Amino acid sequence: MNVLNPARLRLGVNIDHVATIRNARGGAHPDPARAAQIVAQAGGDGITVHLREDRRHIRDEDLQRVADSTGLPINLEMAATDEMLEIALRHRPHAACIVPERREERTTEGGLDAAGQHNRLAPIVSRLRDAGIRVSLFVAPDPRQIEAAMKLGAPVVEFHTGEYAHAQGEAVAHELRRIVDMAALAAKNGIEPHAGHGLTYENVQPIAAIPQLAELNIGHYLIGEAIFTGLEASVQRMRALMDEVR
Ligand code: PXP
Repeated sequence: MNVLNPARLRLGVNIDHVATIRNARGGAHPDPARAAQIVAQAGGDGITVHLREDRRHIRDEDLQRVADSTGLPINLEMAATDEMLEIALRHRPHAACIVPERREERTTEGGLDAAGQHNRLAPIVSRLRDAGIRVSLFVAPDPRQIEAAMKLGAPVVEFHTGEYAHAQGEAVAHELRRIVDMAALAAKNGIEPHAGHGLTYENVQPIAAIPQLAELNIGHYLIGEAIFTGLEASVQRMRALMDEVR
């Protein structure tokens, strides 16, 4: 994404839930492509979309429209299936983040079990890489998952921040420490660390301050806040909170 300034923490905005609201009525409004344009105006660095197997929010036809609506790089979140691989190879997004969709693909923390699924993931990662798509694995902040990403040749891991976001009391510092340590471990091993899930105005800054992190992907909270303040304002505020700690 922003390759000119590696110190800047990129903000990828996940616009899936614009499509969730659209689909509630079955029409064309609100349009995720319009949301992508507003994200670009507001200082977002990328657009993240998750084409789920059940198409519960983003649909196939949204992918091209969203990509055509802004010059921002697209990060396609996808399950490790032949169907999604074929779609990714057709659309050639800037990045593809492999996420778990079924229970058996996850670790207890909700991340992809990259360590337990090497053989299934290896051909998918290599075909995406061969197509010039930057592959990321959405994993728990766990050394085994980083090791698995290295074995798979994935250049990026995105740490699942759900445990951190849901932690209470002393557990918050413990969960933050794991992400701090794993971001350092990933970077030391040549893997670019990203983070996302459950991030809000209240909890983003300790994560944004982790120096090795290159990108945060944030969706649900920003779209929720947009109901009250507008999408441009919610993205700008998140951007400002991230910049304050860098
Ligand atoms: N990163 C990944 C890989 C995700 O799957 C999600 C959720 O769709 C997010 C980031 C964003 O999480 P949230 O919507 O909770 O901000």
